[in-house]
Amino acid sequence: MSTHAEDDVIASVSIEGSPASSSAAPAPNADRAVASRTRTFDTRRLSRDFADQDAFLYLEDFLAPEVTAQLVQSARGLLDEVNRNYLPGHKQGGSVSRHTIDRLAPFIAELYRSKELIGWLEQLSGDKLQVSPADDPHAYALYYYTRAGDHIGWHYDTSYYDGRRYTLLLGVIDESSCRLDYELHTRNADVPDQPGSVQIPPGGLVFFDGDKLRHRITPAGANEMRVSLTFEYVTDPNMRPWRRFISNMKDAIAYFGFRQVFRQMTKRGKDHA
Ligand SMILES: [Fe+2]
Repeated sequence: MSTHAEDDVIASVSIEGSPASSSAAPAPNADRAVASRTRTFDTRRLSRDFADQDAFLYLEDFLAPEVTAQLVQSARGLLDEVNRNYLPGHKQGGSVSRHTIDRLAPFIAELYRSKELIGWLEQLSGDKLQVSPADDPHAYALYYYTRAGDHIGWHYDTSYYDGRRYTLLLGVIDESSCRLDYELHTRNADVPDQPGSVQIPPGGLVFFDGDKLRHRITPAGANEMRVSLTFEYVTDPNMRPWRRFISNMKDAIAYFGFRQVFRQMTKRGKDHA
């Protein structure tokens, strides 16, 4: 059956990336590693590019090599933790939520909170950015495209918060034909829509305002593997209760499963009991 073939692919990838090959490398210092790269960029020019592209930027080579190596090691090490989802006609793939990352890959959480990283993204966007609340599973998450047909259809990263929601997408593993297709200016009636498409290599970056960029990930082929890391930052972390409900249901069904999404809520409920 095809299921077995798919499992074989994952198993072989897992063995190939076993910690034995990379366990010697300690986790880098996130702030220092980010600063080592951002100080080489012309951030003022990139900020102009970001604005000209209606709050979108792609950089092929962003992360320091030691950070990319650490992320690759984590992504392979977390293969057993992947939660698979299938929404007919829209989405098929796997994800690992922040709650699992906190337990098993704390460097990713450190990178997410890096003051150097947030400060640089603030310069790009011109917005004051905050990390997402502790119960938001999208705050940082890994997305896995490991089976033929894994993809996500056209969508926006809609903000359910009172403020804007920015997505930072980092390439981790790309042994695939998947592309990020996107359309700029779709929310701006005065500017024609501008389509684009990129294949994000390990260490590459895409940064955008989730409500402005229409985008999709095209389907993976057989025996392919793609893993990306996304960070979500917000300008106002408040969320109306009914929006919180919609957001939680969407996350439970489309991404992380009910156990992960409602875990925090249940914990909170118990704390209050
Ligand atoms: Fe998205």
